[in-house]
Parts: sequence; structure tokens; C-alpha cells
Amino acid sequence: MTDALVAAAKAAREQAFAPYSKFKVGAALLAEDGTIVTGCNVESASYGLTLCAERVAIVKGVSEGRRKFTCVAVVADTDSPTPPCGACRQLLWEFAPEAEVILENLSGTRKRFMMRELLPYGFDGGFLTGEPGA
Ligand code: THU
Repeated sequence: MTDALVAAAKAAREQAFAPYSKFKVGAALLAEDGTIVTGCNVESASYGLTLCAERVAIVKGVSEGRRKFTCVAVVADTDSPTPPCGACRQLLWEFAPEAEVILENLSGTRKRFMMRELLPYGFDGGFLTGEPGA
């Protein structure tokens, strides 16, 4: 499954719209029902509107009814595999707090983390409701 998820992220990367940075990223999420949702980065001439691949995949999945993801793959063309940015970590924490995150470059170098390692003591809905777990 991990290899399939990385392959999906790699394929999604080909769709990246990154004319400004030229930095193409692909992401793939494994939903609880076994389906794979993909995303690529989508840039804007108004740079700050740029959407990262991870957030595109999350928004696609959630808008199609998925609410929880158990594994995340990110593919980019860097020597050391590219990690999700801080904003993406925060949104991943909302929908994939227990996920394993697999990062791979185009040479096949792979790194693995758990979301809780990438976002220790993350802010989530529990803080808004006062519910335990934080
Ligand atoms: N980018 C992603 O899509 N995901 C990441 O994890 C890091 C950065 C994109 C945003 C922008 O289009 C380009 O990479 C350069 O920052």
C-alpha cells in the first residue's frame, strides 16, 4: 500500500501548476475506507494564494466525504525528501493526526515520520471544547 500511495503522489506531482517556483509537489492520502486522494501544488501569480499539494489533497478528500486519513505520501524533486510545510502540518493534524507520513524524492530516497513527530503538542478541536486528550 505504501508503494501505491507514493506512486499516486508521484503521478499527482506531474499535474502540479508551479510556473513561478518550478517546484512541483505531489501528495496522496489514504482514506479510512481504503481510497486514495491525490493533490498537487497550485500556484497563483498572486503568490500568497498558492496552495500546497497536501492541502489540495485534504480539501479534495474532505469535500468528497472523507474525514480521516491514515497515511500520507509527499513526493518532490529534492536531495532530501521534502517535508510538509507548517500550514499543511496543521491541516493534516485535523484530519490525519495518527497518520504515517512518507516522504520521497525522485531518486527513491524515503523518509517516514508519524504526524505526532512532525507536529508535537499540536492545536486541535480538543482545546476549543475543553475535552481531554490534549
Ligand atoms: N509546496 C508544497 O506543495 N508542499 C510542500 O510540502 C512544500 C511546498 C509547494 C508550494 C509552492 O508551490 C512550492 O512548493 C514552493 O514553495
